[in-house]
Amino acid sequence: MEKIAIFLGRCALRTFFICTLMCQPSFIMCDEQQEEISAQQQELAAPQEETPAPQEEVAPAQEEIAPQEEEAPSAEQVAPQESNQEEAPAAQEEEREEFKIPLTEDLMREHGILRRLLLIYEDIIHRIDSHTSFAAADVYAAADLMKKFIEEYHEALEEEYLFPIFEKNDRHVALIKALRDQHTKGRKITNRLLEICSPNRPITPATRTTIRSLLKKFIVIYRPHSAQEDTILLPEVRSLVTPEEFDALSEKFEALEHELFGNQGFEKIADAVAQLEIKLGIFDLDQFTPADTSR
Ligand SMILES: [Fe+2]
Ligand SMILES: [Fe+2]
Repeated sequence: MEKIAIFLGRCALRTFFICTLMCQPSFIMCDEQQEEISAQQQELAAPQEETPAPQEEVAPAQEEIAPQEEEAPSAEQVAPQESNQEEAPAAQEEEREEFKIPLTEDLMREHGILRRLLLIYEDIIHRIDSHTSFAAADVYAAADLMKKFIEEYHEALEEEYLFPIFEKNDRHVALIKALRDQHTKGRKITNRLLEICSPNRPITPATRTTIRSLLKKFIVIYRPHSAQEDTILLPEVRSLVTPEEFDALSEKFEALEHELFGNQGFEKIADAVAQLEIKLGIFDLDQFTPADTSR
């Protein structure tokens, strides 16, 4: 009995031991086997870690594609843009046709041309006073612009269309009379300047003195002349005519400007004045700004 009991006990212990080993196989692995398994686990883990990387690289690639897709329509838009460019001059011309410059603005900007020509006259006077050389051709060119744009066009419009409005309404009659008289005197001065400074005519000390005198007289006349027209007559025009009459007169002024000077007539005259200013070195506005404003 004692031997049987010992035998049964050993069997029970073996059974327990075998079951334990079967449930926990790692216990029976040697160190080499465990290292092999962990190596395999690392190999498996490695691709999993690298997987996000390509995904990250894809994103920018997709982003790079996106702008191309966005740029595609803009390339398609080139054709309409080109057609817009072709249509632009026509459209701009149409806009210009629709936008009529009011006669008051028209006359005021022409006074701007007049004042810039006066600055040229002033520069010639300064050159004569400082015994600096000047080209008679420049005086001739400035006087010629004064004659063609101011006297034969601007003043002609004033005399034929603007002044009668005030005379008919008995407004500023004495002023209108003085303005007309100044127009006449101004034309005489301009004609004399053109005569003295005509090509191939020598400039002597005596003619230098005459040129200076004529330029000075013209400036003295036209500074207050244009200032009073700008501030007394032109602001009052609208109150003396109907809106329809005002528009009709504005259109007539523009039509005459086109007839005499072509399209962009004002711009062409302004550019001619600017070229003279550049030649004389008085175009740059900074030179008229004082450095010292304290005294
Ligand atoms: Fe005038
Ligand atoms: Fe005027």
